[in-house]
Amino acid sequence: MNATQNRISEVLESIHERGSVPDEAGNLREVGVTAMRRQQGEELQRLARELGAARTIETGFAFGASGLHLVQGMLDAGHDAPTHVAMDPFQSSYWGNAGVVAFRQAGVESTLHMHEESSAFCLPRLVQDKVEPFDLALVDGAHLFENAFLDIYYLSRLVRPGGLLVVDDVWMPGVRWALDYFVKNLGWPIHSQFPTHPILRKRRFRTPPPLTGVNHVVFQVPATETKRKWDHFVAFGDSDGPLSFH
Ligand SMILES: C[S@@+](CC[C@H](N)C(=O)[O-])C[C@H]1O[C@@H](n2cnc3c(N)ncnc32)[C@H](O)[C@@H]1O
Repeated sequence: MNATQNRISEVLESIHERGSVPDEAGNLREVGVTAMRRQQGEELQRLARELGAARTIETGFAFGASGLHLVQGMLDAGHDAPTHVAMDPFQSSYWGNAGVVAFRQAGVESTLHMHEESSAFCLPRLVQDKVEPFDLALVDGAHLFENAFLDIYYLSRLVRPGGLLVVDDVWMPGVRWALDYFVKNLGWPIHSQFPTHPILRKRRFRTPPPLTGVNHVVFQVPATETKRKWDHFVAFGDSDGPLSFH
C-alpha cells in the first residue's frame, strides 16, 4: 500500500470502527446505518480492483464510505489518478459535507467530482453530454421506486459494456420493484449478489423472500441493447413485491 492508500484505510477505519466522521464545521457525526458497512465496502473495492476500474460513479454520497472503497479499489488496480463521480443533493445541507471532508482527509479530494443535485436530473445530463464511460456504477441514492428506476436506467447507459452496475438496498421494496423491471423486461443476468447485514435483517420491513437476505445485486452491462418489439412489456412485481430473482 502506498501513502494515499494508507490514508484512505485510516479514514475508512474511523468510519467503520469509530462510527463517526467530522463534518465541515468540525462536528463529529454518527454514521449509523447510513454509511456502507465495511464488508460490503470491501466487496465493492474488490469488484473495482478485479475489473481494473479507473472511473466509478455513484448516486447517494452521504459519508463517502462507498466512494472511498471504490477509490481504494481503483488505486489497488494500479490507477494513480482515478475518477469518482458522486451525486447527492443533501451533501452540504444535511450531511455538512462530511463525505467531501472524508475524501479530503484521505488525500483523494482531487479524484472526486461531486454533483450536489438529485441524480434524477444530473444523470440524464451526463448521458446527454456523452461523458467518458464508467467502469463501475453504484445505485445508493434515494430509495423511492422512481428514483431507483431512473438511477438504474441512466447509469446502465453510462457504464461501458462489460462494466458493472451495483444496486444497493434491494431488500427495500421500491428498489426491488425498480430492479425487477430490468430483470424481467431486459433479461439482465445477475453477475453476483451480497448478503444483508444482520442488523438490517432484523429491521426488515415489508420484504418477502427470496431477496430478504440480499443487500446488493451486481449486473454486468451487456455489449448490446436487448432488442424488443415496440409493444413489448413483461409485467413485473406483484402485490407482495417482485420475486423474480434470487
Ligand atoms: C444510504 S445513503 C448513501 C451512503 C453512502 N453511499 C455511503 O457509503 O456513505 C443515501 C444517500 O442518498 C442521498 N440522496 C437522497 N436523495 C437523492 C437523490 N435524489 N439523488 C442522489 N442522492 C440522493 C441522501 O442524501 C443520502 O446521502
